[in-house]
Amino acid sequence: MILYFSGTNNSKYVAEALAELLGDRVTSIGLAHKKKETTFALGEGESLGIVCPVHGWNLPYIMDVFFNELTIDGYKGNYIYGVFTCGANDGLASKDLSKLLDKKGIKMNASFAIEMPDNYIPFYDVQPVDEQTKMLEAATQWVPQIAERIKAKENVILHTKKNPPKIFSSVVGKLMKMGMKYPNEFFVTDACISCGLCAANCPMSTITMTDGKPVWKGECTKCLKCVHYCPVAAIQMSKKTAKRGRYHHPHYPLP
Ligand SMILES: Cc1cc2nc3c(=O)[nH]c(=O)nc-3n(C[C@H](O)[C@H](O)[C@H](O)COP(=O)(O)O)c2cc1C
Repeated sequence: MILYFSGTNNSKYVAEALAELLGDRVTSIGLAHKKKETTFALGEGESLGIVCPVHGWNLPYIMDVFFNELTIDGYKGNYIYGVFTCGANDGLASKDLSKLLDKKGIKMNASFAIEMPDNYIPFYDVQPVDEQTKMLEAATQWVPQIAERIKAKENVILHTKKNPPKIFSSVVGKLMKMGMKYPNEFFVTDACISCGLCAANCPMSTITMTDGKPVWKGECTKCLKCVHYCPVAAIQMSKKTAKRGRYHHPHYPLP
């Protein structure tokens, strides 16, 4: 079984590609969270993969929320692995997942990091399309190698080449994580066409449509699905994001 979370669908692509190579099944954590599905059962000898993006050198906030409620039935030392997609640095994501699993009495055996196009536009603009294409090609080639290692049930932790020193990801990452669950900075411009896609697709149900416009209230996981999948790029996080491009994995186009 592969449980995945994804904002702009890099992690969804990896989860689905792995499932195909491993003959496995995939479940979206975002959808499960919305449907309040909290119990999953592992079959005899079945492996469990957790695939998600890296947020602030850690796991996205929704993973904490999901794991708080999660029950995994049937675990008898099954092979457990994490796969993290990130712009460049996976930081402490592996450690974070290992801790969440430990609390459930589950041991993580392996984790793998994959560099993919960066979607954090409050900090940087999206990469040029040719650079994105190169990264996606490299990621597509890396996935079968990860699948082979999973099939072989390797015990290994593989970080990206550019991973920063631990002290950096723990101090800066933890500070960043503190502000990560509040949707304060989101706003919508007059370009909004009131299509409601942002509200329908929000994995944390943070967005509601009020008078035809999105309103962010409550906790948020900052996946930026609303920002990148808005068909008219009307959703912003700052003045800077108005001038920046939008990204989503090309395998999952705008509706
Ligand atoms: C809030 C946020 C924080 C991020 N932090 C990091 C980070 O610490 N390191 C990194 O390499 N990429 C970071 N990224 C980039 C994403 O990890 C990367 O683009 C990922 O592949 C997106 O996956 P998704 O399409 O499945 O959502 C961040 C993205 C977001 C939205």
